[in-house]
Amino acid sequence: MNTQTTSTAAPAVRIEGLSKNFGDHLAVHPLDLEIRENEFFSILGPSGCGKTTLMRMITGFETPSSGRVLLGGVDVTRVPTRNRDLNMLFQSYALFPHLTVFENVAFELRVRRVAKNEANRRTREALELVRLAHLGDRKPNQLSGGQRQRIALARAVVSGPKVVLLDEPLGALDQQLRKEMQIELKRMQREVGITFVYVTHDQEEALTMSDRIAVMSEGVVQQVAGPEDIYNRPETRFVAGFIGSCNLIDVSVPAGRAGHEVPVPIDGVGSVTGVLAEDVPSARPGALLLRPERIEARRAGAAENAGGAEGDGAALAGTVETLTFLGEEWHVHLRIGERLVKVSVSSLVKERDLPGLAIGEALRVSWRPQDARIVVR
Ligand SMILES: Nc1ncnc2c1ncn2[C@@H]1O[C@H](COP(=O)(O)OP(=O)(O)O)[C@@H](O)[C@H]1O
Ligand SMILES: [Mg+2]
Repeated sequence: MNTQTTSTAAPAVRIEGLSKNFGDHLAVHPLDLEIRENEFFSILGPSGCGKTTLMRMITGFETPSSGRVLLGGVDVTRVPTRNRDLNMLFQSYALFPHLTVFENVAFELRVRRVAKNEANRRTREALELVRLAHLGDRKPNQLSGGQRQRIALARAVVSGPKVVLLDEPLGALDQQLRKEMQIELKRMQREVGITFVYVTHDQEEALTMSDRIAVMSEGVVQQVAGPEDIYNRPETRFVAGFIGSCNLIDVSVPAGRAGHEVPVPIDGVGSVTGVLAEDVPSARPGALLLRPERIEARRAGAAENAGGAEGDGAALAGTVETLTFLGEEWHVHLRIGERLVKVSVSSLVKERDLPGLAIGEALRVSWRPQDARIVVR
C-alpha cells in the first residue's frame, strides 16, 4: 500500500547526489535531477551509459552507492519497491498466459483487494485508454506484439501510480509499429496525466515524445532540456554529436559570458562568429558546433544576402566534394581549407538556388551567428 503523503508542489521525482558503482566501475556518477509532475521525461544515451542503472535506483531494484531518491517530496531511498508509488514497464512485458487480457490488467487491483465493481471499472478504463477494450476476453497468445505492449501499459497505469518508468519498451517492435506506438504512448501519457520516465537509446524516439530529455554519456548527465533546446542549443560536444548530425570544429575559445557572440579563429580559414553555450571564465580549447541545415550555401558569384541570409556569422568559400540526394534534401560535403563541412540543402532550395550543382563547384557558405554554438565541454 502507498501510505506516503505527497505534496503537489514537490517534483514527481527528485534525485540528489545519486550514484552507483559496481566494484571499481562508476556506472552512474553523482547526479541531481528533478522530474516534474505529469511530465514525459526521457533518459537518452547510448547502450551502457547507465540508463537502466539510474532507473533501477529510482524503482528501488538497485541500492544507490550514494545519494537520495525522493518521490513527491518524500525520501524513499530506503523504501522497498512495492511501497513506492510507481510502476514499471519493460521491453519483455511478462503477461500471465493463463489469464485473459482483462484479468491481466485487473491483476494488481485484485491483489490490492480493490472492491470488485471499482476494480472492473478501472480495468475497463485502462483498456479503453490503450484502445483494446474489445479484446478483454482474449488470452495474451492471441494478441500481436503491439497489442501485448498496450496491455502491459494498461497494467502499469491501472492502479494510478504517480510515476511509470519505461525501459526501452518499444525495442522489440518493428520500425513501423514503433513509430505508431511513440505517438500513442504520448497520447496515453497526456490522457492519464501520470509522470512517465522513459529510457531509450533512440534519439528520434526521445525527441518525438518527451517534454524534457536528460542526455547521458558514460554515467554522466550532459544536459537536461526540452527537445528543441537539446537539438538546437546543445551544451556539449557529446549532445551535439549524439543527436542529429553536426559539424564539430575544434577552436580556441576566448573568455566570455553565456549567450554572447565571440569571434573564434579557425586554422587556415579565418575568424568566424559564434555564441557561447556557457560562461567561459578564461580562454580554453573548445568546439564550434554547426548543424548542416543551419548553413546556407550559394554560388560563389551570387549576390551576398540575396536570399535574406545574414552574412555576419561568416562567409567562407568551399568546394563541393560529395553530393548525395536523399529525397527531401541533399547532403553536400564542402571542402573548406583542411576540413570537410556537412551542409544539407532542402530539395526546394537546391532546385531554386543551386540548379545543376556539380562536384568540384565553388560555393560560399554562411550562417547566423546564433546558429554557431561554441562549447567548452
Ligand atoms: N549488476 C551489474 N554488475 C556489474 N556491472 C553492471 C551491472 N549492471 C550494469 N553494469 C554496468 O554498468 C554500466 C551501465 O549499465 P546500464 O545501466 O545497464 O546501461 P544502459 O541501460 O544505459 O545500457 C555498464 O557498463 C554495465 O556493464
Ligand atoms: Mg538499459
